This record gives sequence, C-alpha cells and structure tokens, in this order.
Amino acid sequence: MLCERYADPRLAAVYDAMNPPGAHTAFYRDLAGEVPVRVLDLGCGTGLLACELAARGHHVTGADPAAAMLAVARGRPDGGLVRWVEADAAGLPPGSRFDLVIMAGHVLQIFTDDREVQAVLAAVRRHLAPAGRVALETRNPAVREWAEWNPRGTWQHVEAAGVAADVWYDIRSVAGELVTYETCYRFAGGQTVTVPETIRFMGQDQVATFLAGAGLAPVTWYGDWDWSPVGPGSPELIAVARSVTSDQKATV
Ligand SMILES: C[S@@+](CC[C@H](N)C(=O)[O-])C[C@H]1O[C@@H](n2cnc3c(N)ncnc32)[C@H](O)[C@@H]1O
Repeated sequence: MLCERYADPRLAAVYDAMNPPGAHTAFYRDLAGEVPVRVLDLGCGTGLLACELAARGHHVTGADPAAAMLAVARGRPDGGLVRWVEADAAGLPPGSRFDLVIMAGHVLQIFTDDREVQAVLAAVRRHLAPAGRVALETRNPAVREWAEWNPRGTWQHVEAAGVAADVWYDIRSVAGELVTYETCYRFAGGQTVTVPETIRFMGQDQVATFLAGAGLAPVTWYGDWDWSPVGPGSPELIAVARSVTSDQKATV
C-alpha cells in the first residue's frame, strides 16, 4: 500500500522542501551524460531529477504510483518536457525501453520483501535496452543512519505551495534489516499528522545478489555522491549495473 507521505497532496506539497536538490542530483546528471539518452526515473516522486535531466535534452519518462507526487511533478517549470506515468514498475507501458533506469531517493528501500525486490528488478531488466544501465542506491546499514532519526536532530520548518509545517522524524523500531520510523508533520493550524513507514536496509552483497539474479551485472559501486568507492563508513551503497544480454553473458 502506498505510504501516506506520497499519497496525501498536503504531504507531497512539502516533499521538495524536505528533500532539496543536492550532490545526488549532480551525480545522476553526470551519470546520464551529455548525449541524449532514454531515461526512466522509476519512483520519480515530485519529478525534480526527471525535469533536470529532461531540461538537458534527455528523453525522460517519470513513473510513480502516487498521483499526488506526480501532480507536483507535472506543475514544475520543465514538467512539460517529461512523459509522466502513474504506475509502478509492473505498470510501465509494454515494450518501452530505456538506456538508463534510475531509482533515486532510496526507492529500493521501500521494497521490504525479497519477492518485491526481485519483481521490481525483473521489471527494470525487461525495460532496459541492450547494454542499458540501472542506477540505484540504498543507505549503508553499517552506518546506522536511523540512529539519528529523532525529533531533536531532524526538526525543520518547511513551507511550500501555501502549506507550512514543522516536520521531524522519529525512530520506532529496528528489527533486523527493517527499520520503522515516523514522519511527523505539525501544520500551521496545529493539526499533527504522523506517518509510519518501514524501509529495508540491505547490505552490498545482498543488493549485488538481487541484481545478478535479475541479470543486472556487472555492477560498479560507489560509496557516496562524489564517486568514491565503497568503504566501511560510506553513507551510501550506489550501484550502477548493466543489462547483460544472454549473448554477452558467455563472455563477461
Ligand atoms: C523517497 S521517494 C523518492 C522520490 C524521488 N525519486 C526522489 O529522489 O526524491 C519514494 C517514491 O517512490 C514511490 N513509490 C512507492 N511505491 C513504489 C513502487 N512500487 N514503485 C515505484 N515507485 C514507488 C513513492 O510514491 C515516492 O514518490
């Protein structure tokens, strides 16, 4: 079921204020390169990255099952340059092929079950052009970023599209790889909305196994948005994997 953070228009309205562009935006922009390619931004959310890439001449499809997030995306200044699809990976237009599929903003972590991870990666593989690439990331579990998700450390005031709110995160439980936390919104009128969400923190080996199982290999790994290699304290596990055809498999 779609998390309320993405389904509720009032919460979608402040998403960008909580998640501004940063080093990750530049990373994906450089990864796409200068020559126009077909890009799928899967789980595109409010479309910030999709629009950035489209404005640079890439042929971009932004797919997301959350209508409220897509409404924000469509309203961006460059929103008209992107083909928006209200769907998850399974609902993509049949036959569509991409040179680069991006799952930014830790979209992979939404899939908490092995079968969900396998299904989304299999769908990505189906929609990749020969020698196409998929780029995705997950927060490094070794760094335990969730330990800092408390009201004091994360409180911020955000305003966007006429919506003003105090927002903070609060950790609820850690059960193996599954971390449950709340995003709390206190709106200007005093109303508070608390949204629980469980996300999965997979290690590098596990992500590599899922990618290989979907025919997405070899993988190049980065530990941060500055293209540095993965080390024990890297905040991110960023994977860029190629779609290998059965002909190529024999030689790789
Ligand atoms: C954390 S946001 C990331 C948004 C955007 N990629 C970014 O970098 O800001 C996660 C997004 O994944 C979307 N999402 C949820 N379930 C999904 C699914 N099954 N397939 C694709 N996207 C999904 C949500 O609607 C939300 O927009």
